[in-house]
Amino acid sequence: MSENNRTLEAIKYTRGDLRILNQLVLPHETIYETIANVQDGHAAIKTMKTRGAPAIAIVAALSLAVDVNNRFKNGEFTTVDQVVQFLNQSLEYLKTSRPTAVNLFDAAAKLSKLINTTSCNIQDPAIVVETYIGAAEQMLIDDVQDNKNIGKFGAQYIMEHAKSKQISVLTHCNTGSLATAGWGTALGIIRDLHANHQLQHAYCTETRPYNQGSRLTAYELVYENIPATLICDNMASALLKQKPDVQAIVVGADRVAANGDTANKIGTYQLAITAKYHGILFIVAAPSTSIDLNTKNGDAIVIEQRPPEELVTVSGVRVSDNVPTSVRTAAENIGVWNPSFDVTPASLISAIVTEKGVVVKKEGEDEFDMTSFLNN
Ligand code: MRU
Repeated sequence: MSENNRTLEAIKYTRGDLRILNQLVLPHETIYETIANVQDGHAAIKTMKTRGAPAIAIVAALSLAVDVNNRFKNGEFTTVDQVVQFLNQSLEYLKTSRPTAVNLFDAAAKLSKLINTTSCNIQDPAIVVETYIGAAEQMLIDDVQDNKNIGKFGAQYIMEHAKSKQISVLTHCNTGSLATAGWGTALGIIRDLHANHQLQHAYCTETRPYNQGSRLTAYELVYENIPATLICDNMASALLKQKPDVQAIVVGADRVAANGDTANKIGTYQLAITAKYHGILFIVAAPSTSIDLNTKNGDAIVIEQRPPEELVTVSGVRVSDNVPTSVRTAAENIGVWNPSFDVTPASLISAIVTEKGVVVKKEGEDEFDMTSFLNN
């Protein structure tokens, strides 16, 4: 692999064997954990050992692929109905792991439809098992290619609107190889800008309270040798004021409603406001599997509430000896509000970049028409 294609691998999969990089201990430790069944998959997603909208969907689908593969080999299914029931029930269970990222629900719906269609008029359970596994494996393959297209379209769009030949960008949360099957969405755009020598500098936010920015994005940027600087979330406006070379904020998405309102990591909304105030681009980068046409606008998006502990404690390693540790940083008994995501209104978004192309608003309109975009 060339230097530019070197990315971290969050998901390692061969048929019957799924391992995920435990993102709770990154960047201090690199530990791959085996996901042997749907219970392991559900737990890894809920505890955020694996995270990021596309990665959640893929790990869920593949956890069921290894589970059904192993059960079938052990002779657990003798009829088509047994396999179909197991697959559908497992998909319903996996959907209860985290509520906001629509990619999981989209994947479950597509896989369930495929199983139900395939199982009509056949007697051999092996065909259903094989069809399910093949489709789940294809999701892993497709995601990387989709991300590469997002990177290409996004970099092109940004540079068409840039005021100089080289620009700096700010990103939030982690949208890179760790959040996807590889490459990344918003971080994929940064990779492309860098590869095209159009990136002066990347800035990443810390992304409190879970620190996906300082732990994961910073780690990816260092790993890829992309010139980058970490800031606290509350430094973004000051950065834009002092550094006119920052001409775009690029973020990912967990769910894009039909009008373009976008749920993404908490803190995204305030970045969109500051981008508008400073007159710079605010770009959402997401595969089309993040678009939810059944959700009319952002008001209907369910926002996950995370446990208070994630806000009042910080985990890391002791500076003196690198021993993993967790410390409490807030006053005891203080009340905590910990929404994992917020919704950025479409009016604040310059463009939504997908693997199929870039969506923009019609002149004078405040909302995107995601339905026409997807149906054309
Ligand atoms: O809570 P997380 O870490 O799963 O949230 C991740 C994000 O909000 C990402 O920006 C989003 O999923 C896009 S990842 C390509």
